[in-house]
Amino acid sequence: MGRKISVRDLDVRGRRVFVRVDFNVPLLRGGVADDTRLRASLPTLRLILERGGRPVVASHLGRPKGRPVPEMSLEPVADRLGRLLGSRVRLAPDCIGPAAEGPARDLAPGETLLLENLRFHPEEEKNDPAFARGLADLTDLYVNDAFGSAHRAHASVVGVPRLLPPAAAGLLMEAEIEALGRLRDRPEKPYVAILGGAKVSDKIDLVLNLITKVDVLLIGGAMAHTFLGARGVPVGASRVEEDRFEPVRAIVTRAMDSGVRLHLPIDHVVAASPDPGETPRTTAGPMIDAGLVGLDVGPRTREAYAAEIRTARTIFWNGPLGLCELPPYDEGTRFLARAIASTSAFSVVGGGDSIAAVNRLGIGPHFKHLSTGGGAALEFLAGVDLPGLQALADAPGGLVLRDTEKRQ
Ligand code: 3PG
Repeated sequence: MGRKISVRDLDVRGRRVFVRVDFNVPLLRGGVADDTRLRASLPTLRLILERGGRPVVASHLGRPKGRPVPEMSLEPVADRLGRLLGSRVRLAPDCIGPAAEGPARDLAPGETLLLENLRFHPEEEKNDPAFARGLADLTDLYVNDAFGSAHRAHASVVGVPRLLPPAAAGLLMEAEIEALGRLRDRPEKPYVAILGGAKVSDKIDLVLNLITKVDVLLIGGAMAHTFLGARGVPVGASRVEEDRFEPVRAIVTRAMDSGVRLHLPIDHVVAASPDPGETPRTTAGPMIDAGLVGLDVGPRTREAYAAEIRTARTIFWNGPLGLCELPPYDEGTRFLARAIASTSAFSVVGGGDSIAAVNRLGIGPHFKHLSTGGGAALEFLAGVDLPGLQALADAPGGLVLRDTEKRQ
């Protein structure tokens, strides 16, 4: 992939700039629980504001299924963004129509407009042309800084950029492509990937592609139970996705054929349930007794995984290794996070839960890159062409563009 046209190349002065961001952040009690994705958008927004542009910022939040859901309003995000930017951020009550057009027209220099949740309209996910036109008509220029949504062929990701050429990449998008591109195209060996999290079904095809690119794959989280189940290892009452056994076996076969070291947990921290009243214990081996649930990787697994991590020159980590939002089942994830942070490898962590764990430990600066992409990062690394990146214009030989006239 060549260099994309950058927001730096655009002449934004006096122009309204549609900035697609990924503010799909966790909310808690009406506030933003983790603002990593907001902070990550600040360099692009500040650049536009400093150069006299007027950002009209658009995002989805959650999966409201095409209708307004008050709990998925971007209102708390607008508040937090204003505080982080140190300047006024207004929230338009809708992302399209008069409720968006008026505030976009009235946007004063130095101000930012945040549009209400794009997914309150079903046309966003359908990439409806009239909806894309309505969004494009709010602004003069288009910038995509939503790496986390680049795998979605939605109106604001692929429809609007076609209507506002040249569609430029934001600074976060550039940083993500640079860091993840290094992993995808020229990883220094050994390359160790650590995959955890809950669902196998979301990730299985990606793991199948990724497996040939890495030297070592360490599996944790609930996903590990399906891998063990597919090998006939009893995992008690832990949830397994039996319909994924076949693809999981294909991954194991491909790992063996490609000489990849695939590790599964050799012990677990288990309990009858995650309820605080239950006493956690450690299993003697990979097997989990009937009636018990695997909630974290055990101490021997942690050591074995850490030994692989210490040899790595490149590390990619996606997904927690246990139920990390519920201590003490966060210990495996914490242990591995620290192990990664203490290497000099080129280390990238992606996915909301993993980043939240890294932030809680305060070890973010030890990682070479914190990716705001979960699914998008996995797809990118697996070699999938992301529609959101395809929709961005390629920079012709480093030419600096000054062509900012609004196209009809
Ligand atoms: C994410 O958090 O991975 C992105 O914002 C995409 O969200 P989605 O899976 O609901 O499309």
